[in-house]
Amino acid sequence: METVVSGIRSTGKLHLGNYYGALSNFVKMQNEYNCYFFIADLHSLTTHPNPHDLQATVRNVVVEYLAAGIDPEKSTIYIQSDVPEVAELYLYMNMNAYLGELERSTSFKDKIRSNPNNVNAGLLTYPVLMACDILLHHGTKVPVGKDQEQHLEMTRTFGNRFNHLYQTEYFKEAFAFSYSDKLVKVPGLSGQGKMGKSNGEADCIYLSDAPEVIRKKIMRAVSDSGPTEPNQEKPESIQNLFDLMNVVSTPDTLSHFDELYNKCEIRYGDFKKQLAEDMVLATEPVRSRIASIENDEEYIKKVIKMGAEKAQASAQKTIKEVREIIGLKKLY
Ligand code: TYM
Repeated sequence: METVVSGIRSTGKLHLGNYYGALSNFVKMQNEYNCYFFIADLHSLTTHPNPHDLQATVRNVVVEYLAAGIDPEKSTIYIQSDVPEVAELYLYMNMNAYLGELERSTSFKDKIRSNPNNVNAGLLTYPVLMACDILLHHGTKVPVGKDQEQHLEMTRTFGNRFNHLYQTEYFKEAFAFSYSDKLVKVPGLSGQGKMGKSNGEADCIYLSDAPEVIRKKIMRAVSDSGPTEPNQEKPESIQNLFDLMNVVSTPDTLSHFDELYNKCEIRYGDFKKQLAEDMVLATEPVRSRIASIENDEEYIKKVIKMGAEKAQASAQKTIKEVREIIGLKKLY
């Protein structure tokens, strides 16, 4: 059975981008594959979260994984820092990751641009740690959103380079995965590209947002005055709202509003109302389960402990084998 590995950073509440890009696929994949889904708390250290906030966000991601339908009996749910072997593998793989290729990574370039005062080595080697998360369990399928595609290419490069250096076929190649024919990119509400917290709170719809909050955010989303003539190309802000509708509404609803747009008869108030109602409906099951799981401390602890043990067993085996391959076998 193929192994699936994926994770989400513990940076706060999960939004629709995380859900449709990653989490919703996790839930489906657990019935077909051997799955490891973790909370990437080590990756979130690049932005120096305060320790209390970090603990709360890690716990929150666990709750939202469970609320989305990840079953801890089928999948291994764990916290990245509970498996310190990943840090050891990261050290070894850093020896085969070159400055030039790390500097060329688009996510690194974006980070330098958006926060030039915090260009730390952890940011630069972020893709190496991500590769190690996957290689540690010999993952071959990695459910992620479109923005992670380049990191998967780098994962293959690092794994193949290791294999070549040590004349082995130890690491397998991993590929980004989505059930849809393309990797998903969920747009944000501020008209600035993909949904993400870095574009501000108003850009994101969170899985835990109450229906009233969702309605308010959608009604305030950036739209436009047009169209002024039939079959006009949609400006980016409108295309984004149509893309969101494509994610949460039925194909009939989408084509209904598309037709109105093409006939210059669309009323953005109605369009947004429909979008908001469909979004409230689409997020309802997860929202209500978040409320019922978040206070069940015993259950949450049990899940985290069980996941840590399963992930550690797999990681310890890999690290032992990697040490032998690279010549770090114990001499006593
Ligand atoms: P993070 O926390 O930035 O994102 C988690 C997942 O959500 C997806 N995503 C989106 N998908 C579509 N549209 C959006 N607007 C959107 N925003 C976020 C991301 O593509 C991702 O799948 N580096 C990873 C975390 C990670 C990881 C790994 C993933 C660390 N190690 C190993 C897979 C395998 C990340 O982007 O986290």
